[in-house]
Amino acid sequence: MNKEKFTRWHLLTLGCLTVLFIVFLSGNPGVVRAQDPSVLVQSLPSSSPTGTDSSPKCLGCHKYRENHHPVDIVPAQPANYPFPLYNGKIMCLTCHIEDHLGSVNLLRGGPYLDEREFCFKCHSEGNYAKIDPHIMLDGHGNILNVNGRPVCLFCHLVKPNPATDRTGDVLFRADVAFLCWRCHPSMANPLFFKEHFLVTPSMEMRRYINEQEQRLQVTIPLVPRDRITCSTCHNPHQKGVIIYSPSASGADALHRLRLPADEICIVCHNVM
Ligand code: HEC
Ligand code: HEC
Ligand code: HEC
Ligand code: HEC
Ligand code: HEC
Ligand code: HEC
Ligand code: HEC
Repeated sequence: MNKEKFTRWHLLTLGCLTVLFIVFLSGNPGVVRAQDPSVLVQSLPSSSPTGTDSSPKCLGCHKYRENHHPVDIVPAQPANYPFPLYNGKIMCLTCHIEDHLGSVNLLRGGPYLDEREFCFKCHSEGNYAKIDPHIMLDGHGNILNVNGRPVCLFCHLVKPNPATDRTGDVLFRADVAFLCWRCHPSMANPLFFKEHFLVTPSMEMRRYINEQEQRLQVTIPLVPRDRITCSTCHNPHQKGVIIYSPSASGADALHRLRLPADEICIVCHNVM
């Protein structure tokens, strides 16, 4: 390419990028607002009942009314709340900032080295310390209670019926990882965790997983949202709770893994 041609290409590319940038900004007024410090102060949400809430905007792209952290809830002690409330309720913007260019997961006051540091600004770690929700049965096949309700409701929104319900039928009180983080940090191996958590396997891998599930008679649940989460690899249930045998695999096993640590990788990774 000669020099003149190069310059023309260069200008053309620059022009396109400028137009794209302007389109991007006008389509994302929030980005502009957040970068202007004077407006930023003004648009900071207030915890007064009249505080404007743009959480409905988030829901247009992220269908997170279910299977995330619960929203639309009035906290027990709203006074001195660590984060803003909207109409007295916890909404998306209670925990998130609006700016998509912000910190990881746009968490208020973030980034956090450990996401549980964030949880315990509102939850009390001590409330969970005495509970082992993996012990579900009393030895006679009866379901134990936690806080006066069947242990199932510690994680599930509706008590599942093991005779009929499979992965995909059950409802949760929060996205799976939120259920677990109440008591567990994310895994000891941060690199392994980062490579897998909330990743959606490719179509090719999905087909392979289906074959392996048949061959090894194991369920590898990608619920909800077709992504890898804690329960994809771990089975949190006590032996005897889940009846359908491929889904029961891993109950009470070492690390509660659905297959032993040296085998579970080949359910998804075709290393042949
Ligand atoms: C009580 C706090 C809290 C509330 C309320 C909340 N979130 Fe989150 N959200 C989090 C935390 C913590 C994470 C980070 C989880 C992680 O480390 O992957 C997160 C992650 C996310 C993610 C990225 C990870 C994913 O699962 O895709 C999106 C998108 C998201 N939130 C959107 C929303 C929307 C939309 C709402 C309102 C319906 C909302 N959040 C309400 C705490 C909250
Ligand atoms: C126009 C669509 C759209 C709207 C509106 C929107 N988002 Fe997103 N958001 C996305 C896309 C696309 C991504 C990146 C892909 C993904 O992770 O799903 C994303 C990513 C995120 C993430 C993960 C960021 C990370 O660190 O990985 C969070 C958290 C999030 N959005 C929260 C919100 C919140 C809170 C709102 C409301 C203020 C909101 N989003 C509004 C489209 C949108
Ligand atoms: C802004 C405050 C706030 C933050 C931050 C927060 N939560 Fe919550 N969370 C609540 C409130 C309030 C409820 C409603 C139930 C209650 O009163 O305990 C709730 C409910 C839940 C539930 C549903 C089950 C239940 O106990 O009702 C789970 C699971 C949960 N939170 C986990 C987490 C995890 C994990 C984090 C951190 C990633 C987190 N929360 C961060 C305030 C918060
Ligand atoms: C510590 C949290 C937790 C508790 C407590 C819990 N579950 Fe679950 N349950 C999960 C998760 C996460 C899944 C999703 C993984 C899956 O699809 O198997 C699930 C899935 C299920 C499924 C679908 C299994 C399948 O075929 O894949 C059934 C049935 C079920 N649970 C029944 C119960 C019953 C009955 C109880 C109470 C005795 C209970 N669970 C208690 C977290 C829990
Ligand atoms: C892709 C599979 C996979 C996912 C996803 C996954 N784990 Fe693990 N987890 C493992 C394996 C494999 C081990 C055993 C590690 C070893 O042998 O050193 C393990 C070990 C653990 C242990 C035992 C202590 C430790 O860290 O070694 C805990 C607790 C645990 N995981 C919790 C979780 C939680 C909570 C999540 C979700 C936030 C999660 N895991 C997601 C595969 C997974
Ligand atoms: C209320 C607290 C609590 C919650 C919530 C909870 N666990 Fe546990 N978990 C425990 C306790 C206590 C133990 C150790 C005793 C045992 O294994 O039963 C444990 C043990 C484990 C182990 C074995 C750790 C090892 O070192 O081998 C794994 C894996 C695990 N849990 C995964 C999960 C997953 C996945 C979830 C979410 C679906 C979850 N847990 C939710 C309290 C909790
Ligand atoms: C539930 C399916 C699943 C399981 C189980 C699983 N992986 Fe993965 N793994 C993935 C997906 C999806 C990715 C993202 C990249 C991709 O699509 O290949 C990934 C990425 C990786 C990467 C990053 C390099 C790459 O290929 O992008 C390594 C290394 C890895 N996995 C190793 C392991 C090991 C070791 C185990 C067993 C302890 C394991 N995986 C278990 C699904 C899985």
